[in-house]
Amino acid sequence: MNSSISFPSHAASDTLPCIAVLATGGTIAGSAADPANTSGYQAGVVGVERLLSAVPALSSVARVQAEQLASVDSKDISLALWSALAQRVNTLLATDGIDGVVITHGTDTLEETAYLLHLTVKSTKPVVLTAAMRPSTSLSADGPLNLLNAVTVAASAVAHGQGVMVAFNNRIHSARDIVKTSTYTVNAFESPEVGVLGWVQDGRVEFQRKVLRPHTVDTEFVIGANWPHVEIVASYAGASRIAVDALVTAGVRGIVVAGTGNGSIHTTVQQGLADAVAHGVAVVRGSRVGSGHVMRNGAASDDALGFISAGTLNPYKARVLLMLALAAGAAGPVVLQRVFDTY
Ligand code: SIN
Repeated sequence: MNSSISFPSHAASDTLPCIAVLATGGTIAGSAADPANTSGYQAGVVGVERLLSAVPALSSVARVQAEQLASVDSKDISLALWSALAQRVNTLLATDGIDGVVITHGTDTLEETAYLLHLTVKSTKPVVLTAAMRPSTSLSADGPLNLLNAVTVAASAVAHGQGVMVAFNNRIHSARDIVKTSTYTVNAFESPEVGVLGWVQDGRVEFQRKVLRPHTVDTEFVIGANWPHVEIVASYAGASRIAVDALVTAGVRGIVVAGTGNGSIHTTVQQGLADAVAHGVAVVRGSRVGSGHVMRNGAASDDALGFISAGTLNPYKARVLLMLALAAGAAGPVVLQRVFDTY
């Protein structure tokens, strides 16, 4: 049998894997007065027990234990909640008898949380995030099947060692690569350039590729309570350096710039960022384009300016990596570029 495929299990229920479901809120836990209204609703108000009870088929896939960790719209995720979530996931995975973790989350910042966990979870057991674009009360809600598929992946033997994943719309994405690309469709996520890790459908889990960059047990990062202050600025026509100068005055440790094209930066903003480097601020050059690679020393001379290239990470994920790297004691453009080239 191909080792990257697993099929539906018909095991007796007491031999099924045990999967912990951590709920954090999001549209998957959203509720609307009108079932036909898919944009006017409140996210994060339906409890995890109700979400699970909408999916009776879960009982033939796994033994599920549920926890309501938070009930937030993911636009409001805080650094404190990130710390609590990562610590809880690590504690659960270190527990004998827990075979994997599923996290229900809002779609809006899912790619950031997923990448954070990908770099800080210390286990090879599967961690799978899922979400929904339509509230739980909606006609054709997408949450229940996404939840079933996420638990199916987390319960699958072939999902071990793949890093943190996202199961969404029948696809399995790596946390490193996934980005939200639609404001409203149920096919809201892509992994630009590299594609999905695999698929999950009707209980069958199939992996197509592996993530080559180090993750989980192979990173130098641990989750703590202290988060270096890192912010994001954008470059655009007519941009000024006001935001950059204000951030330096506020004492930030790092700035990620969402540049144009291949990470090019308006001359005025670029001068502000060069001055920020002179004040000891780490500056990472990313792109607002949404896919592709920011080439080191391409659209700006990183060597001369003291910048770091974000490579294939979008600005939001680059911020996550920069915060973790600074918290781990990495300093200076040479060391930080090694971090960005590695992860
Ligand atoms: C959220 O991110 O919490 C709201 C939007 C969504 O889940 O689709």
